[in-house]
Amino acid sequence: MEHMDAVFKAIDEHQDEFIDLLRESVAIRSVSADPARRGDCIRMSEWTRDQLRNLGAETSLWDLGKQQLSSGEELPLPPAVFGVYGRDKSKKTLLIYGHLDVQPAEKEDGWNTDPFELTEINGKLFGRGSTDDKGPVIAWIAVLKILQRLGIDLPINIKFVLECMEESSSEGLDKGLEDNIDKISDITYSCISDNYWLGRNKPCLTYGLRGICYYFVEISCARQDLHSGINGGSVPEALNDLMWIMSQLVTVDGQILIPGIAELVAPVTKEEDDLYDKIDFCVDTFKNETGSHGLISDSKKDLLMNRWRYPSLSLHGVEGAFSQPGAKTVIPAKVTGKFSLRIVPHMTPEATDKLVTSYLESLWAKRKSPNTFKITSGHGGMPWVADFRDANFSAGSKAIERVYGMTPDFTREGGSIPVTLTIQDLTKSPVMLLPIGASDDMAHSQNEKINRENFVKGMKVLAAYLFELAA
Ligand code: BES
Ligand code: MN
Ligand code: MN
Repeated sequence: MEHMDAVFKAIDEHQDEFIDLLRESVAIRSVSADPARRGDCIRMSEWTRDQLRNLGAETSLWDLGKQQLSSGEELPLPPAVFGVYGRDKSKKTLLIYGHLDVQPAEKEDGWNTDPFELTEINGKLFGRGSTDDKGPVIAWIAVLKILQRLGIDLPINIKFVLECMEESSSEGLDKGLEDNIDKISDITYSCISDNYWLGRNKPCLTYGLRGICYYFVEISCARQDLHSGINGGSVPEALNDLMWIMSQLVTVDGQILIPGIAELVAPVTKEEDDLYDKIDFCVDTFKNETGSHGLISDSKKDLLMNRWRYPSLSLHGVEGAFSQPGAKTVIPAKVTGKFSLRIVPHMTPEATDKLVTSYLESLWAKRKSPNTFKITSGHGGMPWVADFRDANFSAGSKAIERVYGMTPDFTREGGSIPVTLTIQDLTKSPVMLLPIGASDDMAHSQNEKINRENFVKGMKVLAAYLFELAA
């Protein structure tokens, strides 16, 4: 650990260089959900490959095949970036996963600055991907640059797996990892920096994620849109059917109305129950940051449990329904309702699909509508929960203590990173989530940012973690 002071000093001195690197990456509009941006996604993978290659890493791009769009069109998937940095057989090997794609963003959505032009205001670096997840990926690259420049030997071998489809369910990556299993068979530990602190001031380490199951309910009532004056009252309407169904999925206090879901959920043990008491989490601050009009509970424990260890169901939208301003008097011919469930142990996508499908079908039978009805499910993701009392977490904890002078909270997350369990299973290595951004970073939202301080101290934590892990 004798190097750490020099490393921290160099990170401080070179921080603007790494912010420039982050700026360069944010400018690449790697929106994986937008077919028109697929070229940018591919460019983003190549740009990152070049960064790793310039460091002297052995790199390759893994072809992940094609994506089948619902329109029937085929698009190439952006390649995953694989990098090997250090091949010393006497050292352990750390797998670092991160993603290079981002959520869509337009200035018109309500951004104060251009989302693809990293802009610093009062120590906050605004830009799409600044915290999710380009910032953390750049932080890793920065750490390796610094160690190299200082001539400090890497204490541990590193392998990178970086993808550009995470925000679109990591399509192709599970198979890419399986196909390249021989390249990741020597992993000792895995680390993912792709989540956020629970609050604004205290770092955390994360040992759980929820999984996700996504559903599409398509109802069609006519060959084409109809006039509600001409046809209203004569035709059973698709959107009426859909609203009736969608209103029977979840109650106002978040209770899921699909029979059998609650029975799949792992019971809370006394040991787990005790964990929540110690966690630093303020309900009022959370409510303020969220900007929500209310909360489902005002108990800290209930809220955390609802976010982390119970399933939730959210309605996302209706494709085909009139959504522009004004009062168009249309009867939409075909509408597709979209909702998802965040799933937790011991739920699986298969078991969840079965319950959701049979509930929706029973509702439809009750409805007695002549319309056509179709349920499809999107690519699901498994939940992940690990033991935080292992060497990986104690290295992370020591690293945080060294940089922040406090021990982190051990947290779970309500969000999903579909590949986490795959990485754990295929590499047979313990996985840890090490977030560097804060709870108010607004990932996926308008004005996403990472604090300069979080970015810089995050690099220090990652550097210290490498040495603690090797110790
Ligand atoms: N970084 C997030 C995962 C995350 C979200 C961690 C919230 C902690 C809290 C990731 O980029 C993400 O957005 N994942 C998607 C996955 C989905 C598209 C399959 C998510 O959770 O919605
Ligand atoms: Mn992310
Ligand atoms: Mn995300």
